[in-house]
Amino acid sequence: MLVEDLKEDVKEFWNKSSCGEVYASGPSDVGYYEQHSHMRYQLEPYIRDFSRFADGRDKDVLEVGVGMGADHVEWARSYPRTLSGIDLTPRSVDHTLKRLSMYGLSSEVRIGDAEALPYRDNSFDIVYSWGVLHHSPNTSQAMREVHRVLRTGGTARIMIYHKYALTGYMLWCRYALLTGKIGMTLDEIYHRYLESPGTKAYTLEQTQAMLNGFSKANLVTQLSFGDLLQGAVGQRHSGALLRSAKLLWPRSLLKVLCRGHGLLLLIDATK
Ligand SMILES: C[S@@+](CC[C@H](N)C(=O)[O-])C[C@H]1O[C@@H](n2cnc3c(N)ncnc32)[C@H](O)[C@@H]1O
Repeated sequence: MLVEDLKEDVKEFWNKSSCGEVYASGPSDVGYYEQHSHMRYQLEPYIRDFSRFADGRDKDVLEVGVGMGADHVEWARSYPRTLSGIDLTPRSVDHTLKRLSMYGLSSEVRIGDAEALPYRDNSFDIVYSWGVLHHSPNTSQAMREVHRVLRTGGTARIMIYHKYALTGYMLWCRYALLTGKIGMTLDEIYHRYLESPGTKAYTLEQTQAMLNGFSKANLVTQLSFGDLLQGAVGQRHSGALLRSAKLLWPRSLLKVLCRGHGLLLLIDATK
């Protein structure tokens, strides 16, 4: 498939439903967005720990892939000098602008592509991106763009997916083992069954290689709520098998034994 066709498919997928819409219901008023934020940070408390939104104070901050805008509101509340956000989809940009305006907050949010950021070199002190760059067909190019628009000494805080993760193993059991296609690789599994078409997941070594332009990079893996089968995991998976697994899942044990097998790969890098 051509890269441009794949990017269109990614856009179409996320434009049908932004990430996390499942966590809110009713008219899209303040209550709707409060529900979404509440569920998001309750299920994923590690987002706040990693993002450290308060660091945005007096900084030029860019978020790549704003989605429904929950984190973007948190960056806007941190009193940044300037705040910018992009997303591939009009749906996300609409959500985020609406959400900001409900709280009297502002940001320069627009439709844009992580692989061709519409900003000049050395424009930002912080570039933040949660769960986005692995959906873009050329993730290495998106990482280079993050590096380009950061000032020297600036910080990139990025979450991409980690390959050797419980989520991947579960999806492999479901879509490879149970269907007799045991030759299917984890890369194919992520590509076909995890969120938008063509999703990728990276090893620590592959991630380090993508970050070679940065002066330093700290990489940590984190078990996600999906790895622990908490909440409405993913937008594509449901059914009796999943319901039973959720009842039987040995969460406490997995937290101890599988700490290094989380889906989330947290990158804190300095240019
Ligand atoms: C899983 S959602 C994450 C959204 C948000 N960061 C969050 O945590 O809820 C992925 C988002 O990445 C966006 N996206 C995918 N590829 C992109 C690209 N090349 N450039 C900009 N945004 C992209 C999608 O439109 C979608 O809103």
